[in-house]
Amino acid sequence: MALFGGKTALITGGGRGIGKEIALMLARNGADVAVAARTKKELEKTAKEIERLGRESLVIKTDLAKDKDIKKMYSGFMKKFGKLDMLFNNAGVLFSGEFAKSSLRQADMMIDVNFRGTVRSTHEALKHMKNGGIIINTASVAGLNAYPTLAVYSATKFAVVGFTQAVAQEAQEKGIRVYSVCPGATKTKMFDKVYPGQNAEYTPGEVAEEVLEMIRSKTLKPGSAVVVKHHKKQKK
Ligand SMILES: NC(=O)c1ccc[n+]([C@@H]2O[C@H](COP(=O)([O-])OP(=O)(O)OC[C@H]3O[C@@H](n4cnc5c(N)ncnc54)[C@H](OP(=O)(O)O)[C@@H]3O)[C@@H](O)[C@H]2O)c1
Repeated sequence: MALFGGKTALITGGGRGIGKEIALMLARNGADVAVAARTKKELEKTAKEIERLGRESLVIKTDLAKDKDIKKMYSGFMKKFGKLDMLFNNAGVLFSGEFAKSSLRQADMMIDVNFRGTVRSTHEALKHMKNGGIIINTASVAGLNAYPTLAVYSATKFAVVGFTQAVAQEAQEKGIRVYSVCPGATKTKMFDKVYPGQNAEYTPGEVAEEVLEMIRSKTLKPGSAVVVKHHKKQKK
């Protein structure tokens, strides 16, 4: 039996970048996987790759900044799969620049998607995870250390780390493990937009490998914020 055989998973931001690699990693290990984001074309591409791995997939067009979309994401997921075993709150947006000169509309968008979206999605998920499960929120190293030009982004990720730690202690009693994963610079569209032409430290696949290790771990403390280090470990 595959590691995640018979398990179902929902990944927000599963159309590209880190979320897509998490979706494919789960499918490769036997899970049926739903992907949610705004860009249907990207979601459909991920879904096709999931199906090519022999697993079932579902595309759910969702704007995580909209409460009614989040509710619909869960009703669509439950209609197709009937149960939720694994949730990855991964969707995120990043706008950088000096805070005093930055757009408050963009600040609101980061708060809405990165933090509020994670909170509301988790609230829904906990209603559906009846037989235990796992929730992994994509935070960032910017959620553990503050960086200039990333004030609001960083704040949303600190918030995700704190939220994860607290909820994990409650969910533990229900057999639900909750963690955050904290990638450093990772080669994705988000990274390329903010740091054009620069090299990143990680590939999205390496972040997905770290996530796999987190899921497999028998010793990871509830609520842990795990800094991605996967490829470094491999090089030793
Ligand atoms: N790349 C890095 O260096 C890095 C480092 C640390 C943490 N992270 C975090 O990793 C996560 C994934 O980012 P990435 O690097 O893979 O970036 P990415 O390639 O830009 O992917 C972001 C994903 O989030 C989705 N998304 C954005 N806004 C959304 C909204 N309103 N509703 C639904 N989905 C939305 C995007 O899809 P649509 O645009 O189609 O909606 C996309 O699928 C984010 O939480 C990010 O903050 C990234």
